[in-house]
Amino acid sequence: MAGAALAQTARPAPARQDWPVFGELEEKAVLDVLRSGKWSRSSGGKRAIEFEARYAELTGAKYCLATANGTSALIAALNACDVGPGDAVLLPPYTFVATLNVVLLQHALPIFVDSDLETFQIDAGKLDAAVTPECRVVLPVHLGGAAADLDTILAFAKRRGLKVIEDACQSHLGEWRGKKVGTLGDCGCFSFQASKNLNSGEGGALVTNDEALMDRAYAFHGNGRGRKAEVAGFTYASNGANLRLTDFQGALLLAQMTRLEEQSRRREQNAKYLAAMLAKIPGIKPARLYDGCTRNAWHLFMFRLESGAGVSRARFLKNLSAKGVSGSSGYSPLNKEPFLKRIIEGRHYKRVYGERRIREWVERNNCPVNDRLCQEAVWFSQTTLLGSRSEMEQIAEAVSKARTA
Ligand SMILES: Cc1ncc(COP(=O)(O)O)c(C=O)c1O
Repeated sequence: MAGAALAQTARPAPARQDWPVFGELEEKAVLDVLRSGKWSRSSGGKRAIEFEARYAELTGAKYCLATANGTSALIAALNACDVGPGDAVLLPPYTFVATLNVVLLQHALPIFVDSDLETFQIDAGKLDAAVTPECRVVLPVHLGGAAADLDTILAFAKRRGLKVIEDACQSHLGEWRGKKVGTLGDCGCFSFQASKNLNSGEGGALVTNDEALMDRAYAFHGNGRGRKAEVAGFTYASNGANLRLTDFQGALLLAQMTRLEEQSRRREQNAKYLAAMLAKIPGIKPARLYDGCTRNAWHLFMFRLESGAGVSRARFLKNLSAKGVSGSSGYSPLNKEPFLKRIIEGRHYKRVYGERRIREWVERNNCPVNDRLCQEAVWFSQTTLLGSRSEMEQIAEAVSKARTA
């Protein structure tokens, strides 16, 4: 069980044995699906469908589409927004690689908008300077469970006539001004991969209030079969792929959802306590939240070890680990990935965008604030935040000592 009492001084590296949390509820849910012989919605199963209804209710969205994973939800979203070759998508450089990969899969141009050093989120104040006439979508990420600055992003998108796809893969139950993230843009995408706060091993969902968008995403996720009866069977509403969630995952998610609120509260309490302690340590800067972020889902606890803190980050992480606390150095700059340059300068992109546009993209592809963020960031995982209050104190003490050791 997560957060079980731990011996004396330190929390063992990072409580992996405590995650996932499961019991008879999950065992019964999965066995019931097994015994029913209906293992997916395509064979008459009802668990994925039931999960969609419950997750829509939880987020306050009109529609929810369950998908095989978060990447699939993003792919369905981009297709539903008709993003393709010749289009551009605005996105942050500080995110999991899937946010970028889905753009590349559409042969669309990824345009990186620099990070906000204090919040770790996309710097929404820089969207206007980054936008180009090719842009069709802005794809903000609610990183670590906190929210990107949705007020600025939504106003920008409205002004420019762009769609907003929220990558909320790390932000289950996260809120912006009292509404669940993922429901404020045109659509939002979630991941239920094993490390996520809501977990079915793999899994994902797209939520939206837009029926036409839901229809297109639904069709795309089921090899083009439409959501409405008249286009069922061997007739197709569009092209697509098979991005469906199985009923085993649906059943597991329904069970895991009963634990989510309590776990989220525990993370919130611990994170606030830990942040207050860390903020007093010189050289340690916990990620700040925007005012509009009324609930942080705390998928990650993120802070910066400032460059002038007197210890390198690598040494700091080693010192922490020696004290039984496991931290991560987080993402490296996505806009500088060698594979990205190869693709953008490769034959497909050159054919679509032309040599001059590609050269211009390479010249403008700089995110200096993000470069610094990637050098200074340290994360603790959400499982760390499921520990006890005294474990948070031990972590804060370890951070303080690791900085000076
Ligand atoms: C920000 C972000 N976007 C997208 C994804 C992709 O989700 P999945 O791994 O479920 O495909 C993840 C998850 O790992 C993520 O953290």
